[in-house]
Amino acid sequence: MAAVQWKLKQAADDKFCNDNAAEGRRMAEMEKLSLVAKALTPSPIQQLSYLAQRYNAINLAEGFPDFPAPPHIKNAAVSAINSDFNQYRHVQGICDHVARKMKEMHGLDVDPLTDIVICCGQSEAFAATMFAIVDQGDEVIIFDPSYETYETCIRLAGGVPVHVALEPPNWTLNLDKLKKSFTVKTKAIVLNSPHNPTGKVFTKDELEIIAGACQTWNILAVTDEVYEHITFDKESHISLASLPEMQKRTIVTSSLSKTFSVTGWRIGWAIAPAWIASAVRNIHIRITDSAPAPFQEAALTALSSPPAYFDSLRSDYESKRDCAVNMLAEVGFKLQFKPKGSFFVFAPLPENCTLSDVEFVEELIKQAGVVAVPGCGFFHTTLCEENSSPAALSYQRRYIRFAFCKSEDTLAAASRKLSKLVDAYAILVSRVRAIRLGRLVSKNSCFKVNSLISCYVAHLAILLLAQKSEHSFK
Ligand SMILES: Cc1ncc(COP(=O)(O)O)c(C=O)c1O
Repeated sequence: MAAVQWKLKQAADDKFCNDNAAEGRRMAEMEKLSLVAKALTPSPIQQLSYLAQRYNAINLAEGFPDFPAPPHIKNAAVSAINSDFNQYRHVQGICDHVARKMKEMHGLDVDPLTDIVICCGQSEAFAATMFAIVDQGDEVIIFDPSYETYETCIRLAGGVPVHVALEPPNWTLNLDKLKKSFTVKTKAIVLNSPHNPTGKVFTKDELEIIAGACQTWNILAVTDEVYEHITFDKESHISLASLPEMQKRTIVTSSLSKTFSVTGWRIGWAIAPAWIASAVRNIHIRITDSAPAPFQEAALTALSSPPAYFDSLRSDYESKRDCAVNMLAEVGFKLQFKPKGSFFVFAPLPENCTLSDVEFVEELIKQAGVVAVPGCGFFHTTLCEENSSPAALSYQRRYIRFAFCKSEDTLAAASRKLSKLVDAYAILVSRVRAIRLGRLVSKNSCFKVNSLISCYVAHLAILLLAQKSEHSFK
């Protein structure tokens, strides 16, 4: 017996030593990584995607379409591959099209030979821009919430992101907060409109405020306009570059991804005054050399799509927006802000819901078989930046992003799943009420109701539904 105990102790000691050694090795390896890489943790989307797969959940999380790309564009890509456009390539025709569009949409004169750089999506255009303009310690202002990649690109370039919180529920720009964010170290401001995750389209007044600040502080502006063609309710997209005196200090980034439902093609561009565009181009060439050749060729077909294409893109997405907003309202979300552009609804949890955004999405996957994105990943404003109490930032854990860039079938299936859950909950609540009123007394039915209750109490999560029950099932 003593020998067995000794062996067990020995095994435990060995395990302890092995664990310590493994941890030591891991720490030594981690030391070799850059500070930025060490600071990067998996996003909440990645962490939840495994759970979503296990439950085969309907995907309203990812910001890309689940419907086919337009056939004429796909055919152009196939034909480009068959025509052997398969080597490093710069397709100047893209720059010609983009320059024409900038004139048509914003009245801007852009030289297609010098002012446009074709990149691997907006993402590379943005990263190359940051490497081109940011030095160690330069501050770059970003609005909060924001699309996740800006912060990392700024840090990779050695810059310091400075966040300016947009104010819920309408994600209003607060002039005082903006003014306070400028310092002598400010190099640039990033503007994404139409906006991911909120669906906000910055107004002309807000753009004028931003333009005024850029001029006062003599800084650059970097815009992300990937949703430029997806606006609703007769709202139209205004490029910050089109405001007086702004073209000479603005780098516009955009891409084919969202407009043509081809996020995997990786074709985007940066538009800037020649001296900046040349720096961005030099960096782009060193990082990726060129964007995928066959898809650059197919981009020519995409960019020459007739106006009817852009009209139907907008109206199709507006119907999907309405469908998503109605679906969420029906299950009890109280949406104060209806998206004006992009393809996301950023929905606040009901006030009496005690779950955090991440807990809510976990329950949404398990109970309803639908996955969305917890909003916390889009917020970065810290207490010291906001100069206020923790309670003032608690809204950062109370938003869920639902993507509606999905087929009608997907949206209908999600709607059915959520409705089923509401119905099940309604039955549960009415049974509980019946028991309370002494109407349901048989042992058998009490047992059934109790097991239903314990099942729900175990996960009772979608307090949203509880809230709805308070209002509708009383
Ligand atoms: C605001 C915003 N910018 C950029 C991107 C990425 O664009 P691209 O595919 O052109 O790199 C996305 C994708 O979700 C986005 O939402």
